Amino acid sequence: MTTLDVRTGVPFLDLRSVSETVAAEVLAGWGTLVESGAFIGGDAVSAFEQDLAAFCGTSYAVGMANGTDALHLTLRALGIGPGDSVIVPANTFVATAEAVVLAGATPRFADVDPDTLLLTTDSIAAARLPSTKAVIAVHLYGQMPDMDAISAYAGSNGLLLVEDAAQAQGATFGGRRAGGFGVAGCFSFYPGKNLGAFGDAGAVVTSDPVLDDCLRSLRDHGRAFGTHHDHVLVGTNSRLDAVQAVVLTAKLRHLDAWNDARSELMTLYRELLDPGRATPVAEQAGGRGVHHLAVVRVSERTRVRHLLDEQGISTGIHYPVPCHLMKPYCRYADGDLPVAERAADEVLSLPMYPHLSADDVRRVAETVNRVADGRLP
Ligand SMILES: Cc1ncc(COP(=O)(O)O)c(C=O)c1O
Repeated sequence: MTTLDVRTGVPFLDLRSVSETVAAEVLAGWGTLVESGAFIGGDAVSAFEQDLAAFCGTSYAVGMANGTDALHLTLRALGIGPGDSVIVPANTFVATAEAVVLAGATPRFADVDPDTLLLTTDSIAAARLPSTKAVIAVHLYGQMPDMDAISAYAGSNGLLLVEDAAQAQGATFGGRRAGGFGVAGCFSFYPGKNLGAFGDAGAVVTSDPVLDDCLRSLRDHGRAFGTHHDHVLVGTNSRLDAVQAVVLTAKLRHLDAWNDARSELMTLYRELLDPGRATPVAEQAGGRGVHHLAVVRVSERTRVRHLLDEQGISTGIHYPVPCHLMKPYCRYADGDLPVAERAADEVLSLPMYPHLSADDVRRVAETVNRVADGRLP
């Protein structure tokens, strides 16, 4: 994930300082696991689930093997399947749409707000069909859409609201944490996320005891609670590894501080970037994002990205193709989604991680301003 020599360049992502912060605690926790042999389930997983639920303000958290399973199994636990449709934004990581198809349902791709690139009630209404049972609100780049409006719309139209909070651990809207608005909030703890494991991991948070029970069963081969051979559902194996739970428990204690550091860096980017040349994606009113990604919009992205690369600045694109134009998903498309399509051509993700230095942000912003102005090389 560290793509450049940090002595000379600015990598897009560098997780070494984050990992070093928790290394001693993680190694001690792993030592306890090795002694106990409790590698599946056990105290380490339960402790993380309790901490995560408390952090999100929900009654329960269910550890999963990854974020895609968190979404897919949530939809299944909600009884969504063949004949149902689920609204997802077109500009998201493919897993949001993938989970809908894995559940046997049909994705309905919605366009997004031109400034925040997030779902709105209007875009949800435009995508809604009589078959629509749920909407997945994606907290893209770390910020939540207007969850008050979306919750109210979902409630008054009989739609289940699921949050894809994979990129937004710790984000808030109206002071409430991501994951606490919908019937369920789904997280990925892929290493590069704001709360990242040392491998794949995920979780679902909910305050619904029936959903909690069902998810615990689905992640564990459909076992009835407390049994070994009583398989009551067609489940799968999507348990959170105890070794990852140890990492996540240690990291969760630092998450707010790391998110604050990202916030300061994003403020600096906003101050320094010339909005005529590189426009940061707008902040959602009422929300406090956690800046998983620092995304700007530029014209001539390929040229800009190439010149930045030559200056030792590594960038990403999230995402170059909206889901409704991808080969496996275009069959579900229903017309153009112009905002998502234009954004896909313009978005550019700048370096962002908690231990990125202010000097590096200055260097990146100054170089972006020069490059996007055509004054480089
Ligand atoms: C918005 C979004 N949803 C879902 C996922 C899927 O998570 P995972 O890779 O853990 O399966 C990701 C991860 O990249 C994501 O960014």
